[in-house]
Amino acid sequence: MNISIIGAGAVGRLWGCKLAAQHTVHFWTRDNCQQMAIHLSGTEATDSITQETSFQFDANQPALLANSELVLVTVKAFQVEAAILAIKAHLNPDTAVVIMHNGMGSQQTVLELLPDNPIIYATTAQAAFRPSEKDVRHTGLGPTLLGGINPQAAEYQALGQLFDNALPPCQWQDDINLPLWRKLAINCAINPLTALHNCKNGELAQSKFNNELTGICLEVAEVMSAEGYLVTGAELRQQVDTVINATAGNLSSMNQDICHKRQTEIDYISGYLIARAATHNISVPHNQSLWQAIKDLEKQYHDQ
Ligand code: PAF
Repeated sequence: MNISIIGAGAVGRLWGCKLAAQHTVHFWTRDNCQQMAIHLSGTEATDSITQETSFQFDANQPALLANSELVLVTVKAFQVEAAILAIKAHLNPDTAVVIMHNGMGSQQTVLELLPDNPIIYATTAQAAFRPSEKDVRHTGLGPTLLGGINPQAAEYQALGQLFDNALPPCQWQDDINLPLWRKLAINCAINPLTALHNCKNGELAQSKFNNELTGICLEVAEVMSAEGYLVTGAELRQQVDTVINATAGNLSSMNQDICHKRQTEIDYISGYLIARAATHNISVPHNQSLWQAIKDLEKQYHDQ
């Protein structure tokens, strides 16, 4: 298959290298480079298809984008609209578009911008990190789930296998919103706390974070249940604890964004939860104050 990856962050680069074992991969990035070199290192256990670690990709070529059967958008949630607007003129209306980002809240915009294309959302627990411009390090293994959000995507279950062949485990979901909500709960708990306390994920296992984590999970469970996804706070808490332990040595994406004074995904994580809570008249004070604290931090460096 001809695949274009939109966004050359750590996750986009990781999937690009993995998909390149069986497909032709082209990157679309914000700079105008025509070629992109990537060196992949890390969790070698998954390199069963190819032992290759150095990759060279074509980049930013409208003809290759137009010729793509699959487009994988890996930019951050707040960059999705601009990314789609940048590629829309070149995109074939039959091309399947997979959107993979932390948080929720971009779906309506994507459906409006691309009314004809099959639209698929994905959530991944694979972790990657970019120690330098050309390097990407695969730092954590975990499942990737994907599923369609419009009728045109209904026939695309085979993408589950395509992604599984590249970087397992991966599965197609009939209702992708359930895994997206479950991942949102994890991000509502881990991301703002690790950013505010400038700590690794594993440090949240200390007892001083216990009440806060429980409070966040109870609020997310109440909103999820109101949305039709019945779940208890205890279930979500268990899931959050599992991720805290599994990624103990990692710095969360929001921790890194705050450290580098970059815009965070808070509006699509806690902010999305707060917006959905408001429509159900549910109060979410833990998530509200974490959202506010991250907004205050972002404002400080924007004002500088
Ligand atoms: O955003 C992140 O960093 C990740 O989604 C997670 C799961 C919190 C692990 O660091």
